[in-house]
Amino acid sequence: MLNLVLFGPPGAGKGTQSQKLIEKYQLVHLSTGDILRSEIANGTELGLEAKKLMDQGILVPDEVVIGMISNKLDSNKEANGFIFDGFPRTVAQAEALDALMISKNTAISGMVALDVDSEELQNRLLLRGKDSGRPDDANPDIIRRRIEEYNNKTAPVANFYKAQGKYYSINGIGSIDEIFTEISKIVDGL
Ligand code: AP5
Repeated sequence: MLNLVLFGPPGAGKGTQSQKLIEKYQLVHLSTGDILRSEIANGTELGLEAKKLMDQGILVPDEVVIGMISNKLDSNKEANGFIFDGFPRTVAQAEALDALMISKNTAISGMVALDVDSEELQNRLLLRGKDSGRPDDANPDIIRRRIEEYNNKTAPVANFYKAQGKYYSINGIGSIDEIFTEISKIVDGL
């Protein structure tokens, strides 16, 4: 199985590149942000609770997203592999993902981190905010909070995969196709 963690700050291009990767490698895309937004759209209790935090740019609790990923792994037993997009976002989530992978007799193949500076992230998300309908793209203060959450809680997850020799980093600035070519080179080597 090919199990890839696509990593990077908000607006780095994880969702954009995931769409291309699932097509090329026939993987199942698991985006915790998308799953949470679908809970919100369906008006579930989980969605209503998560929305309060997401609209402020704050991470939802680990146990909520770990439970969601566990359910998705169980309901996709025939998959060739997975792309984890926006998960794991804390070291506790990374540890839980390793345990889930072991329980399924598989492992994370590698983490690919997209490196993009804060100014570019702000510009991309503000530009998208005009028509995405995402409340967390709507103003610069919330975008700054999301980037702060990433720097404080998520960036350390890179060390977790570095320690396992599974960390790969690429420049996330450039054309979407150029970046995809670089990611594919890494994935082909895994
Ligand atoms: P989530 O939905 O995961 O959002 P995010 O990580 O903040 O990232 P985005 O989806 O905004 O960015 P992306 O890197 O996917 O970039 P994209 O391809 O869209 O999370 C939202 C919230 O949910 C969190 O704040 C948190 O509250 C909660 N949450 C989710 N997961 C959680 C977890 N595991 N634990 C706890 N809480 C969790 O691209 C962005 C824009 O840039 C687009 O407009 C795109 O067209 C453009 N773009 C892409 N590539 C390029 C390029 N190469 N050049 C120029 N523009 C580009």
